[in-house]
Amino acid sequence: MRITIVGHGYVGLVTASVFADFGNEVTVIGRTPEKIRRLNAGDPLIYEPGLEELLQRNLEAKRIHFTLKYDPAIKNSEVIFVAVGTPTSADGAADLSQVRTVVREVATHLKHGYSIVAIKSTVPVGTNAEMKQLIAKTISSKNQKFDIVSCPEFLREGTAINDTKHPDRVVLGSNSKSAIEKMLELHQPIGGERVITDLPSAELIKYASNSLLATKISFANLIAFYCEATGANAPQVLKAVGLDKRIGNSFLQVGIGYGGACFPKDVKALIHSGKLLGLDNQLLQEVEHINQVAKERFSRSILEKIGSKVKKKIAVWGISFKPNTDDTREAPAFAVIEKLVTAGHAVTAYDPAAMEHAKTKFGNKIALVSDPYAAVAKADVLVINTEWNEFRQIDLERVKQLLKTPLIFDGRNVYSPEKMKRLGFEYHSIGRKTVQ
Ligand code: UDX
Repeated sequence: MRITIVGHGYVGLVTASVFADFGNEVTVIGRTPEKIRRLNAGDPLIYEPGLEELLQRNLEAKRIHFTLKYDPAIKNSEVIFVAVGTPTSADGAADLSQVRTVVREVATHLKHGYSIVAIKSTVPVGTNAEMKQLIAKTISSKNQKFDIVSCPEFLREGTAINDTKHPDRVVLGSNSKSAIEKMLELHQPIGGERVITDLPSAELIKYASNSLLATKISFANLIAFYCEATGANAPQVLKAVGLDKRIGNSFLQVGIGYGGACFPKDVKALIHSGKLLGLDNQLLQEVEHINQVAKERFSRSILEKIGSKVKKKIAVWGISFKPNTDDTREAPAFAVIEKLVTAGHAVTAYDPAAMEHAKTKFGNKIALVSDPYAAVAKADVLVINTEWNEFRQIDLERVKQLLKTPLIFDGRNVYSPEKMKRLGFEYHSIGRKTVQ
């Protein structure tokens, strides 16, 4: 099938590369000449395991290409995906300006005949219906026939290719039978259950899913606060809770909270649309609040321990919002580092992938080093924000020798407290007793 995808972020580029790999002819539209040049040269621009190889293989096979131009890509396509960003506006709403601009542009180039416009961007309920009207208003000829399909995406960064090829479900929202048939045909090589529904339900499925996952994380962190106050062990409590099949174990990992491009934005957007609809949504406000508190408690406990009168050298491991990505959007690490720097301490940070973003964010306010041992050399304390595998296998004896004081604050529970005690560390983690 010939398809076009507008947008080459995590969703757009991964979806495009996977569909190309299945043998479709894919054009990807962007708006920055330099990025388009690099993408055509095989540089995915983002760090995502396996993506560079997948992209290069399909560029070589000439099944994917990148362009700035809507014409002739749109008029040659049977399906056009919109996968551009919907960032948070000042009032918490999803900012739909990119979606509107792109859909208007797509509409002006639709072919004479039939096309499907599939919205993959995460958009509030009612947006797909609004886009349908926008296209109808913009097209110049009655022969430009089209249907809208809401096709939300559930891929996680770090496992995006696998999630796209083998999702738990493919959600398709539309009131057109022929559009659904065509989309089912396109998704035929992709695994997962099919959920065929109407536009508003498809739109809400995405927000409901991300909000429930964020709720599980905040609930787990709330239980961690109780554990810290009572001496109970949060991972053990939550493991036992999750063994109840009705609850499940996933997304009950305690830590310094969720970040990334989706959860913070989507929870805010659902709270905002609830307000517009006159609905009482204290639940999600509390989910957001607990997520803030998790980060604040962690930085406060570090500062309580090291004080703020004497400038200390703090080693930081982990900057990205989670492992296996260079993404630092809403990264809890940024909030933690900010607090430590504001208290007057000197931070030396290391991350396996996100150093460039840290440099952009902090400039020379913090030092960046390219290996974890260099970060801990002569440091008064080590702070861990992201559970990269690299830290699990690290030589802790060497870390202890390099640190000035064997003190660690671990925001992701990477190590066992008993082991750390044996090695002679004062080890603070989340929802677990410090064994001194
Ligand atoms: C998420 C959704 O999982 C995906 O379906 C959606 O389409 C996009 O948003 P992503 O943002 O890539 O994906 O990351 P995810 O793996 O879900 O983690 C989000 C955040 O939650 C990370 O900061 C992670 O560290 C945190 N997290 C996750 C926890 O703190 N505890 C957990 O148990 C799980």
